[in-house]
Amino acid sequence: MSDRPRADIGVFGGSGFYTLAAQAESFDITTEWGPPSAPVAIAEMSGARVAFLPRHGTGHRLPPHKVNYRANVDAMRQLGVRALVSPFAAGSLRPEIRPGDFVVCDQVVDRTWGRESTFHDEFADGPVHIPFAEPYDPRLRRIVLDAAAEVGATAHDGGTVVVVNGPRFSSRAESRWHRESGWHVVNMTQCPEAPLAMEAGLPFVGIALVTDYDAGLDEDPDVEPVSQDAVFAVFEANLHKVRELIGAAIPALADVSET
Ligand code: ADE
Repeated sequence: MSDRPRADIGVFGGSGFYTLAAQAESFDITTEWGPPSAPVAIAEMSGARVAFLPRHGTGHRLPPHKVNYRANVDAMRQLGVRALVSPFAAGSLRPEIRPGDFVVCDQVVDRTWGRESTFHDEFADGPVHIPFAEPYDPRLRRIVLDAAAEVGATAHDGGTVVVVNGPRFSSRAESRWHRESGWHVVNMTQCPEAPLAMEAGLPFVGIALVTDYDAGLDEDPDVEPVSQDAVFAVFEANLHKVRELIGAAIPALADVSET
């Protein structure tokens, strides 16, 4: 175990995604924001050092509103990662975005509240208002889309994720409102993960794995509203695709992280 672990690429694990590589070394990273959700597992993959951190903790102990996003992002920053990959389970708001599909989002709408969502709670050295017009790094998005094509996964290029506070799912009225607002998928963790990554200066890509149709589809009354069991079952059934996709993206992500 070295004193100062380093990594090229960071990956957050989501619901049902708790390990990335078998031969990983585990590190307890301390941060001024408190402990990250779990020790960080670092492994060599395709010649790059990849740091993996399950955002909900080992065994999914932490609900979305209790995740210490600041500590998780800061742990990745301390490791020196230059690309941060954030797979997440999501509900689809549209019939053409199906369970099992990926959406490589290009926009986010934050409907969370009460979360520690900035590293700048005090403007000790003057104001800090970061630009957030492009929450997701376009180079990383391209790499992930190319990797999806390489492994034969269906990936939608662009889409807006609306982030709800949870831990409950949305009502039908909320879900309809999200869809009518023009948004594509719904999740509970991309905020404040994405803005914190931006504050930390870490190029960030969010990859939605669609697990359900949220509160249901107006087009098809037979579609059941989402349940927790369905989210975990669909995520688990598609976890191999998430791993393949990330594996295929690693060489190009490592190249970006060198520039
Ligand atoms: N994660 C997976 N499915 C979801 C949904 N329908 N709403 C919020 N978060 C989710």
